[in-house]
Amino acid sequence: MSRYVISPQVAAAVKEFKLPERLGFGAVVAPVMFSAQWRDGAWDNGELLPYGPIEILPGARALHYAELVFEGMKAYCVGRTWPNLFRPRDNWQRLARSAERLSMPKVPETLFFDALDAVAGACRPLIPNVSGRSLYLRPFLFGTESGYLLRNSNEFRFMVIANPVESYATVPMRVAIERLDVRAAVGGVGAAKASANYAASLRASSAAAARGYTVALWLDARDQRYIQELSGMNLFAVIRGELHTPELDGAILPGITRDSLIALARQMGMELRERRMPIDELLADIASAECSEVFACGTAAIVSPISVLADRDGREYAPAKIDVVAKTLREALLAIQERRAPDPFGWTRDVAPFTATL
Ligand code: COI
Repeated sequence: MSRYVISPQVAAAVKEFKLPERLGFGAVVAPVMFSAQWRDGAWDNGELLPYGPIEILPGARALHYAELVFEGMKAYCVGRTWPNLFRPRDNWQRLARSAERLSMPKVPETLFFDALDAVAGACRPLIPNVSGRSLYLRPFLFGTESGYLLRNSNEFRFMVIANPVESYATVPMRVAIERLDVRAAVGGVGAAKASANYAASLRASSAAAARGYTVALWLDARDQRYIQELSGMNLFAVIRGELHTPELDGAILPGITRDSLIALARQMGMELRERRMPIDELLADIASAECSEVFACGTAAIVSPISVLADRDGREYAPAKIDVVAKTLREALLAIQERRAPDPFGWTRDVAPFTATL
């Protein structure tokens, strides 16, 4: 049972909310949010609130020193009356690792789950019931103490906001290989879901968009040779009939969808290799048709096909197949996430109900 109650303000906000037909990704905001504060070494109980502006001191360290880590996860409610989450404990563990990397306080497991249950439960009437659509949940933790000294804040806030969404990429993605900027280096914060990594990717993402590409592909910081990930997504390629994905190098974000696809592929009997993947080798494999398909995955992206990879010199490499293996994996993953198929991995978990419902 949720330890939070739905206040009349939250109930009214949910009641007034109309779910539009077109959702996009993040364009539609759920009218509910959760907020808890950490002061004097302890978390308060937190509260469920109507979505709205928050007060933050202009000198807060989150704003100046990017003292902010976050998660991305989803609640599903397809053909059912009550929502479920997917691998939420993995999100909690990753948030704890991200917080640890930035020496921020850990969000206790119970607070994390209570907050998610409260937001997802309160938002139940506006969770899309169409396959591929869901309620995206964005837990985030940030330092609110004001000051320029380079040390951690003494005060933190943990919040959860939510958005009814469709897939991040609705058409096959056009990828621009980034050979100048670097997203993250080994020893840095690349393996943490830290906002700083996303800031580092913005220039290349905007430049890619200006050239007509969907997303930037990142190479390792040392040699600018090995594939790391796409902005906000991990990468897979089908090479000589086997699935290949870059091995986690300490700078790549360990995606929960990535890990789920590895497990699903192995369960389906596909050969899967996690290894260092030189970008030039992949491009040569696409050109010679040894590589038949490339795709991306992530909580937001689910499993998204890639139609073309473009190099800095403007040369484009188009895999022969689009959305074949990707589709098989996406359908298997979504069927488990949406509870339309058995869940042999024990990945899904019901949202805890409220004592008093809407
Ligand atoms: C997610 O997939 O949850 C992310 O954080 C990626 C972001 C680009 C939306």
